[in-house]
Amino acid sequence: MKTRITELLGIEHPIMQGGMHYVGFAEMAAAVSNAGGLGTITGLTLRTPENLAREIARCREMTSKPFAVNLTFLPALTPPDYPGFVKAIIDGGVKIVETAGNNPAKWMPALKEAGIKVVHKCTSVRHALKAEAIGCDAVSVDGFECGGHPGEDDIPNMILLPRAAEELKIPFLASGGMADGRSLVAALAMGADGMNMGTRFIATKEAPVHENVKQALVNASELDTTLIMRPLRNTERVLKNAAVDRILEKEKTLGANLKFEDIIHEVGGVYPKIMTDGTMDAGAWSCGMVAGLIHDIPTCQELIDRIMAEANGLIRARLAGMVAA
Ligand SMILES: Cc1cc2nc3c(=O)[nH]c(=O)nc-3n(C[C@H](O)[C@H](O)[C@H](O)COP(=O)(O)O)c2cc1C
Repeated sequence: MKTRITELLGIEHPIMQGGMHYVGFAEMAAAVSNAGGLGTITGLTLRTPENLAREIARCREMTSKPFAVNLTFLPALTPPDYPGFVKAIIDGGVKIVETAGNNPAKWMPALKEAGIKVVHKCTSVRHALKAEAIGCDAVSVDGFECGGHPGEDDIPNMILLPRAAEELKIPFLASGGMADGRSLVAALAMGADGMNMGTRFIATKEAPVHENVKQALVNASELDTTLIMRPLRNTERVLKNAAVDRILEKEKTLGANLKFEDIIHEVGGVYPKIMTDGTMDAGAWSCGMVAGLIHDIPTCQELIDRIMAEANGLIRARLAGMVAA
């Protein structure tokens, strides 16, 4: 399939794997890229520019295809070494960066000078337009369904994607709730040029996470996620568990007085315990409603091949047949 996204990013299929904390290691990124999509290493998970440089080199040993690095800009008292991360990306010869969390304007000159394509992930049309204005090459539009941070507008993709198509000139990926060929065809119909998946890629053979995490996704339904940290305007969609119950109870009790410190032990530093050790109640972890559409644990190649076959079948048989009739 050829779209503006496959052309821009030099990939075979219009499918990207979004940055995911403690999931987006070289194994994940290389598996997606080898299957013809765009895999992404999650920069901040590596903690230091030196580790990121090593991870980029490791990924290059596993794939000759393009892959991206995610740079998530978080509000932090002691900010991560962003200049160091950007340098590691440029020195490592990575040609695609997924930015998220905040406006990447500050980093655009360095990234563009190095010939890097920037895909900015955002949750609203106004932020997508801002990204276009500052020179991003594409955006990933994350709807309310998405795992992770859906923003505060709560606009689902059925509305957000066609609205993005009405306003944007640059290509965009549909993100949030994407799982299969049906998602891809729907996203293309609504004006997107491809799709970005997070949660679905965790339930694959190559995802470098504990089996408990993959099983939790297979077992979960679309009713099993919820939103936390809304009172802090840092809303996150997570899988329900005991830690999340405690957070929600605290949010209810403290109301507008809730501070990040009140819940930090349930959300800070918990990813290694969940993703690596498989201790599923160790804290809150991002998960999309799309868990309801995850029923198996294929390889990335099987998943992407299946998506493309289903998408082609839907377009050629189901949709074309309806028009003919
Ligand atoms: C476990 C997990 C961790 C994530 N971590 C990050 C992150 O560190 N940075 C980021 O930009 N997005 C992160 N995301 C968001 C994904 O890149 C992607 O935008 C989102 O998962 C899309 O929605 P979906 O899960 O419905 O496919 C994360 C998502 C999940 C499920």
